[in-house]
Amino acid sequence: QNPPWPAFRGYHEYSFAHATMGHRLPTILGKAVDDVIRTLNEQSSEEEVTDLVQCIERMEDLMTNLSGNAKLRYIVDDGEADVALWNKEIAKYFQGKTFMNAPWLVAEAYKYRRLRECFAVSKYWKEYDVFFRQKCDTFSRSQDAVFELSTRFAEPFEKSPGAPNENALERERLMFTELTQVCLWGNSTDLSLLIDMTEEQIKRLQATSVEQLARTEKNILDNSLPLLWDTVKSLKDQGGGRIDFVLDNAGFELYCDFVYADFLIQSGLAREIRFHGKKYPWFVSDVTRKDWNWLLNTMVYGHLFPTASEVELRSLKKLGLRWKEYEKQGIWVYEQHPFWCTGFTYWDLHSEAPDLFLHLSKSDLLIFKGDLNHRKLTYDCQAPASTPFPVAIGPMSSAAGAPKICSLRTIKSDVVVGLGDKGDEIAERLDKEEPGWKISGKYAVVSFSEGRPG
Ligand code: F6P
Ligand code: MG
Repeated sequence: QNPPWPAFRGYHEYSFAHATMGHRLPTILGKAVDDVIRTLNEQSSEEEVTDLVQCIERMEDLMTNLSGNAKLRYIVDDGEADVALWNKEIAKYFQGKTFMNAPWLVAEAYKYRRLRECFAVSKYWKEYDVFFRQKCDTFSRSQDAVFELSTRFAEPFEKSPGAPNENALERERLMFTELTQVCLWGNSTDLSLLIDMTEEQIKRLQATSVEQLARTEKNILDNSLPLLWDTVKSLKDQGGGRIDFVLDNAGFELYCDFVYADFLIQSGLAREIRFHGKKYPWFVSDVTRKDWNWLLNTMVYGHLFPTASEVELRSLKKLGLRWKEYEKQGIWVYEQHPFWCTGFTYWDLHSEAPDLFLHLSKSDLLIFKGDLNHRKLTYDCQAPASTPFPVAIGPMSSAAGAPKICSLRTIKSDVVVGLGDKGDEIAERLDKEEPGWKISGKYAVVSFSEGRPG
């Protein structure tokens, strides 16, 4: 099933697809090669060195393909669980298509899949993550916001004594609204967009105080926070629900996701949280199992923040220990289905990954984080801004068993939907008054779909 609107493609000069395919992706790949060379220079074993040199050669081939606008070839069988899915998609829809005339979403995902292949076929470097250094580095440069949150939330939330009352519920609603926004804006720290940011720029993006959040709430162009609250509130009466997160970026964003998920558990709104990450490095900064472990262990044992105070470090450690305990007890679960690293949009999730769809349909609320997930939900196509979000996500709202869905996304690319009846006028006005509003990360959406019972 396809939407009636055309998908964005690299040759569409009016879209961010063009700059991404022509300029951003080669830049990202060039930086990845630099990272591998740095690793290469630190090696001593001849076998490992020569194996890594071959990885670099494969990356150079990919660079030639990308900048020469080659046709998309099949993925070689490198042992990944998604090879068949990838090749089925290429055979069915993209034979003969190039990086520039294939849909942007597929071509961009394909580049990351080919990068994976460069290492997956090697002997010693299968697990190598060209983005790992960068992911760790950005977290370590997020000191102010990290400690602002940890010193506030290390102590467990105070529950009001006695039976739940109006006041307690109102406090919980306010806290929920605030932390949903912390989780939402955590998505604006995205490396793939913001290479070479200064500490100051990072700080400005990581606005976490109550006043800053109140100021930015007006930039949430589709704001379904009240609907979202109604949904989670009703879960509490059933002893807490199962909430799933389809994760986006590692480091600071994941840390914000954890702060939010911690609140959902402590408040009794959720009894179980499932986090869906990637099987291998993806779109520069997306979460892998290794990133997940790194964050928790660095919080508890790391020496990442040499200028931090004792109190700050203690708060970070306390949070890390509590979160590790959630994982040990199975209250937080990390999962990584191969489908998340394919080029399929989520319009195809129920048909191409029926096991995953069934699993997700058992969730009480499925939260998608970030720009790429939003593009995949909406088919990354030229739908008018007034299109209701449930319509824009097709089968993810209309297929039998579709769960309740929320997309928390700061807007970093062309597709924008869910802005209401006046949506097209709003988008036109912003196009005129603030060119670049769709890629700046200044605006966001909290979009919601009720789903359809199975
Ligand atoms: O759309 C622009 C972009 O940089 C894409 O490359 C990618 O879809 C996305 O933003 C990455 O952002 P996020 O990490 O929020 O998905
Ligand atoms: Mg990402």
